[in-house]
Amino acid sequence: MATPTISLDRPDPYQPPQSHLQLQSDAPISWVRLPDGRQLWVLTRHEDVRTMLGDKRFSSDRRDPRHPSHTPYMGPDHRPQLIEMDPPDHTELRRSVVGEFTVARLAAWRPRIQEIVDEAIDALLAGPREVDLVEALSLPVPSKVISELLGVPYVDHDFFQENSADFSRADTTQEEKAAAVGNLKTYINGLVDEKAKSPGDDLLSRQLAAGGDPEAVRGLGFLLLIAGHETTANMISLSVATLLDKREHLAALRDNPSITLGAVEELLRYFTIAEIGAGRLALEDVEIAGTLIRAGEGVIGLTNTANRDASVFPAPDEIDFTRMARNHLAFGFGPHQCLGQNLARLELEIVLATLLRRVPSLRLAVPFEEIPFKVQGPNYGVHELKVAW
Ligand code: HEM
Repeated sequence: MATPTISLDRPDPYQPPQSHLQLQSDAPISWVRLPDGRQLWVLTRHEDVRTMLGDKRFSSDRRDPRHPSHTPYMGPDHRPQLIEMDPPDHTELRRSVVGEFTVARLAAWRPRIQEIVDEAIDALLAGPREVDLVEALSLPVPSKVISELLGVPYVDHDFFQENSADFSRADTTQEEKAAAVGNLKTYINGLVDEKAKSPGDDLLSRQLAAGGDPEAVRGLGFLLLIAGHETTANMISLSVATLLDKREHLAALRDNPSITLGAVEELLRYFTIAEIGAGRLALEDVEIAGTLIRAGEGVIGLTNTANRDASVFPAPDEIDFTRMARNHLAFGFGPHQCLGQNLARLELEIVLATLLRRVPSLRLAVPFEEIPFKVQGPNYGVHELKVAW
């Protein structure tokens, strides 16, 4: 049989890419060809993806060109970030920072995040009655929150937004990505040097004060800026677009704001935006559900189809805010499970609750089908979301 090819095309914006769904139904563990010609294993079922992501014999170190997430534009002197490390280095660095992102620790940030969201909505209400929500709310809120958490002055915010957009957009060349990465790294390096001289009350200063190697702190700062920005923005935009399109869900949320957390969790499951995020390289021969994956072969766990696995999530294509499916894989699984997930949940909860309360007449300014969706990865989302009120 010919090796199947997978693409990210999706005829229905509410469904994962067609080729991913096809594999899940026809051949849930498959050796496939990516559009760029590389061949690797693709896992599509919830149990198999979880098993793979929880097994340390599958490596996150992307320096090997056989790794599915190998990123040549990072440059030869690139030092692996947390997300690209294997144990024991990963375990040690993660342990040093995980305390910053616990639910209890983030609770102290709730009033400040609420203020940031209110300020963005004040500005939105003061302007014309039709805006691009991505620009007005979805990008600035996570960007400002992560800037403050790290101790980055907000005056540099436009610089971050532009460079992280260039880094994550599918239509930028390898050279443009390299330039954006270089700009962000240079900025963070300078910032960490400044914090070493005059520490503040922020994450980077605390990492340095706890004896963190400045090089590792620079890497962590860079990763947190990148990882927490566009992902959360995409989830905000997709969630709002869905609520404005499927008005019955909007009504349910308005009638009963106490289900907001359940709504956030369900929308995370439903869209699973990091669609090709969970790439690994097998370090040893490993068997998954009877299939032998050999050392040196790449594997992608498709969390988007895993989160539509009917054996785990009954009626998986239905949006159900009362499902409370915390076992979804939208934040990955295992040692690399998203460090910022509690922050992302908090931001999404505050944004949705505040927007619905303060802008009750909010509506889509274009038909849902005409929204420009980000279909070519690495994260699903929308380029622009025109809304009016
Ligand atoms: C809705 C928003 C978000 C989504 C869907 C998301 C998704 C993910 C996923 C799937 C992974 C695992 C990648 C892998 O297994 O290789 C991950 C890791 C990570 N995320 Fe997020 N993320 C989000 C928001 C954030 C935020 C707000 C931050 C930080 C402030 C953040 C920081 C990180 C970091 C540092 C890692 C690497 C953890 C490690 O390697 O130990 N993320 N994220």
